[in-house]
Amino acid sequence: MKNSPTTVPPTSNKHLIRWVEKMADLCQPDKIHWIDGSQAEYERLCDQLVEAGTFFPLNEKLWPGCFYARSSPNDVARVEDRTFICSLSKDNAGPTNNWEDPFIMRRKLKQIFRGSMRGRTMYVLPYSMGPIGSPMSQIGVQLTDSAYAVVNMRIMARIGLPVFAEIDKDEKRVVPCLHSVGAPLAPGEQDVPWPCNDEKYIVHFPETREIWSYGSGYGGNALLGKKCFALRIASNIARDEGWMAEHMLIVGVESPTGEKTYVAAAFPSACGKTNFAMLIPPKGFDGWKVWTVGDDIAWIKPDANGQLRAINPEAGFFGVAPGTSAKTNPNAMATLARNTIFTNVALTPDGGVWWEGMTDTPPAECTDWRGQRWTPQIGQESGRPAAHPNGRFTAPASQCPTIDPAWEDPNGVPISAFIFGGRRPTTMPLVYQSFNWSAGVYIGATMGSETTAAAGAPVGTVRRDPMAMLPFCGYHMGDYFRHWLKMQRNLSSTPRVFHVNWFRKDDQGRFLWPGYSDNMRVLKWIVDRVRGRAQGKETPIGWTPHYEDIQWQGLDFPEEAFNTLQAVDRVQWKKEVMGHEELFLALHDHLPPEMIYERELLICRL
Ligand code: GTP
Ligand code: SPV
Ligand code: MN
Repeated sequence: MKNSPTTVPPTSNKHLIRWVEKMADLCQPDKIHWIDGSQAEYERLCDQLVEAGTFFPLNEKLWPGCFYARSSPNDVARVEDRTFICSLSKDNAGPTNNWEDPFIMRRKLKQIFRGSMRGRTMYVLPYSMGPIGSPMSQIGVQLTDSAYAVVNMRIMARIGLPVFAEIDKDEKRVVPCLHSVGAPLAPGEQDVPWPCNDEKYIVHFPETREIWSYGSGYGGNALLGKKCFALRIASNIARDEGWMAEHMLIVGVESPTGEKTYVAAAFPSACGKTNFAMLIPPKGFDGWKVWTVGDDIAWIKPDANGQLRAINPEAGFFGVAPGTSAKTNPNAMATLARNTIFTNVALTPDGGVWWEGMTDTPPAECTDWRGQRWTPQIGQESGRPAAHPNGRFTAPASQCPTIDPAWEDPNGVPISAFIFGGRRPTTMPLVYQSFNWSAGVYIGATMGSETTAAAGAPVGTVRRDPMAMLPFCGYHMGDYFRHWLKMQRNLSSTPRVFHVNWFRKDDQGRFLWPGYSDNMRVLKWIVDRVRGRAQGKETPIGWTPHYEDIQWQGLDFPEEAFNTLQAVDRVQWKKEVMGHEELFLALHDHLPPEMIYERELLICRL
């Protein structure tokens, strides 16, 4: 083909070069650009995006090194109904994934990718999930026609020449990822600021470890290292190799004596991982410090001594903007103050950004995420927010003031507890601890949460979201539970397992719990339980704190309010168990028997 490469392949890996040529033949880009990952290259691509109208440079004095982007209104979130797991057998994908026969899907993809990059540049983007050279890291190469995806990936992962060098070292296996926004340009045709296609395909081939993504430039659909690789493909690799790829944040809790306890927590999309990962202890917690390792994904593996260790495979945060403020998450605000890309928030007249919840008073006037004039009055009358509820910031993790000194440790950090949690307006207490590992796996497996804007579907109904992995587990959910249970065999001691709920509401729909930094009170009890120095009360669902087991200093929270928050209502719980039953019926032929026993035990205790 006519693609005389614009840059020379900086790799000697013949398989890789041949694959790039084959994919270029299929997609027919005008040019091929091998990404070196340098700052100069990043700046050139950003300039190009500004010229194309995709990026607005923000006010350099207020927001140094920051850019603003607005997506097309039909490309604002992950598309779960267009996400496919194409395993050889349908049974392997299970009932919680969309499945298509891999041969049929491949034929379909070849059709839609044919000529899909015409008039555009194909970037060859090598990336490492995890620190380069870590024994826990994995490498992918994303071919993409989106410069926006490239500059976001440069923040979210380690990319460029050092990754090519790693690939060349011992002809490492890489995960091939093909991405096109699906908007070829005819000769002379004027591009739009956010090219994409109404038809979207986010496709995974777990056996051959391949990703094909078509039609979207947004978030997890386009930054393929994140959900597609680090969760859907990696969960398959992890099952085969005896480790875990989880939708979890990782934090290190430091006590006044300098004792450090790392915990990992799985909350569904837009349910508080970034906030919890950057928690600043409230007044009354002198000497306590929370360190951030990761805010979205954890790769967790037993070491030679049977201790679970975790790395954050990412290098940046792709965080929910609305609700983020100096009050709720000052660490996030400091992290995103420079070198950050903002997508689908509002643009202020002074060249800054704004979103709902950032400040108490909205700006008198701004441009909303759709590019239209917005004032508080227009917002009130139209019911339209200035920022899209799934508007996001892409910010380097290294800029986080509380980034853990060990966050890039190639061997990861030791994990002492797992925390599960969702948005539950009723039923679920603030916190409880599972009786043991298999009861803990049951708690994770039966997790529920109200849907959020992150999934591109109706918001606010409780759905089962096992381990916060419903949209991200790349194989049969029943087998995934079995894998969790089996992990215990390679461990000298299992992490303690907890469930939290910051979102319980009263009859008037108000949150019962202040949340955010006050979540430290719950985290301290968890750490104290892990360390064997906190009391617990036995209830039908697990161990819960007594009122006096929680450190209340600095917060006026009466005992009755705490009891309401912790209440285990038997009527509500019977309904809850019916919900578990529904999930289990769907998974029945792969469900480990331990899950049935645990359910029976729970019913008996209730
Ligand atoms: P993903 O990036 O989609 O995986 O989401 P996430 O789990 O990192 O969610 P994030 O921390 O960004 O929180 C999403 C929303 O939950 C924001 O609007 C927060 O303001 C809100 N939130 C976070 N923590 C709390 C809390 O403790 N209480 C309440 N009421 N809301 C919270
Ligand atoms: C999520 O939806 O859980 C996210 C955002 O973390 S995205 O990367 O778009 O999937
Ligand atoms: Mn997430």
